[in-house]
Amino acid sequence: MAILQIIWAPDPRLKVVSEPVETVDDDVRALMDDMLDTMYDEPGVGLSAIQIGVPKRVVVVDVARKGEEPQPIRLVNPVITATSEEIAIFDEGCLSLPEHFAEVERPAEVDVSYIDENGDAQTLHADDILSRCLQHEIDHLDGILFVDHLSALKRGMILRKLTKQKKARLRDSA
Ligand code: NI
Repeated sequence: MAILQIIWAPDPRLKVVSEPVETVDDDVRALMDDMLDTMYDEPGVGLSAIQIGVPKRVVVVDVARKGEEPQPIRLVNPVITATSEEIAIFDEGCLSLPEHFAEVERPAEVDVSYIDENGDAQTLHADDILSRCLQHEIDHLDGILFVDHLSALKRGMILRKLTKQKKARLRDSA
């Protein structure tokens, strides 16, 4: 169990296409536990392994509200197998783009297949925040950030501000 540092954009590692996991072993389970610790510490509702620098197709999410029982879902090699025609607009954020939010259009509902922490194949149907969160995290596995769904103008504005935030973070930790 460990809280790890989350990579902030812009960073070339966040553009990497992550590799599928071949076997769900104790290392993968430990990685998922560390990812959940890191996500809850922020706090956030989703995290992909590449955000802590591990280019593997591993995602954790928990969209339980404050005060509710935690509902962590650990997903290995998740794939979106179906999307609704209905589109939803959400104000999206990302732990790798701290303090920045923007409205992003995505399918309202999705079906996702994945391998769970025990190595078993699973499918789930998601709507609302879970659907949004899963689409966002699965994008990360292909090197896609939520700002990549925005206009070049908006994306550029956010990334320039993030570059300044990163320099300040480096100064603070020096
Ligand atoms: Ni994100």
